[in-house]
Amino acid sequence: MIPITKPFLDKNDLKHIKNVLSSKILTDGFYQEKSEKIIRGHLKSKFVAVTHSCTAALEISAILINLKPGDEVILPSYGFVSIANAIVLRGAKPIFVEINPHDLNISYDDIKNKTTKKTKAIYVIHYAGNACQIKKISQYAKSKKIFLIEDAAHAFLGKYQNKFLGTFGDIGVFSFHETKNIVGGQAGCISINNYKLIERANCILDKGTNRKIFIKNYKKKIISSKNNKRFYSWVDFGSEYRAPELSCALLYSQLLKIKKIQSIRKKNWFTFKKVIQKLNTQKFYLIESSKKASSAYHILGFVFKTTQLANQFKKLFQNERVAATFHYVPLHKSKMGKKYCKYKLPITENIYSRVVRLPLFSDMTRNEINKISLLINKFFSLKY
Ligand SMILES: Cc1ncc(COP(=O)(O)O)c(C=O)c1O
Repeated sequence: MIPITKPFLDKNDLKHIKNVLSSKILTDGFYQEKSEKIIRGHLKSKFVAVTHSCTAALEISAILINLKPGDEVILPSYGFVSIANAIVLRGAKPIFVEINPHDLNISYDDIKNKTTKKTKAIYVIHYAGNACQIKKISQYAKSKKIFLIEDAAHAFLGKYQNKFLGTFGDIGVFSFHETKNIVGGQAGCISINNYKLIERANCILDKGTNRKIFIKNYKKKIISSKNNKRFYSWVDFGSEYRAPELSCALLYSQLLKIKKIQSIRKKNWFTFKKVIQKLNTQKFYLIESSKKASSAYHILGFVFKTTQLANQFKKLFQNERVAATFHYVPLHKSKMGKKYCKYKLPITENIYSRVVRLPLFSDMTRNEINKISLLINKFFSLKY
């Protein structure tokens, strides 16, 4: 079976993992510090912490902005469940909004429609690694004094007008899960650009304690029995959100080869785009980045004219042992989502069952690329 995605792993990854085991430092070590430094350098961000998942980073964001009962928070219904959970776990109300049909990113117009006096934050997703209308949305959020959090789980190193996705809002979160462009096993990170939020972040990341500051002071040898600061203690909300050193080592190793990974993904994506362009078909369209942005090339995705066509396409690929799959089920239509949302979102409801993803990863073989290209051509030569 050709899977939808596969991590790009080699001997160097193993070398760094072995280093951790030999060092016997399994938390808060060399690799955590190094990978955070590299990511901060790439993003030109004020603060970066590697977490055990993007889900963890989203939960931290909800604590940092003090979400509470009575607050409303805007998010796309066509999205991953972790944003919704981060919101409802704080007792706030998720307000699901529409997407744009061409790129499946959150609709700027619907954000404006659904903003009220209770709106505390907007969570956007850069779907498939393609920028949402981030500049307009960030200007709008600033004008309304609403927090903006970018879920850039798909979009590490994607850009909009030369600025990295995840660095426009107050907070950006990223995923390095096994399914993402680079992996830390199961890992993620949080990047903070709002100075006011940075101080608390280290405590929230560390079970609500001031341990990180304590360790920093300890290293600087400014803790002595005289100044009575030989302990760290519980100072805020928090949980265990940091990534273990084994994950950080894998992530570090992946960060060292990120240029190669990204350039192969881009090349593969464009190979498939060329195949599709030649078809000159109205049966579906490719999900693409806007001209002002550069994609992280996370997903090779299509929107079909009808659900029936999408299902026929998926069946053809699956019969030939090539993964072809749907993506998100709208959150507002789910069992949990219905408890919070009583209105309809016609664009989202109409589009989600027509979305299909095909395999895209960095170590695709020539044979795999040819097989997928042939199947795309075959589908369009058949009469459906
Ligand atoms: C948009 C989006 N946000 C967040 C996540 C959660 O990422 P993680 O698995 O690292 O928690 C995902 C997972 O695929 C996602 O698609």
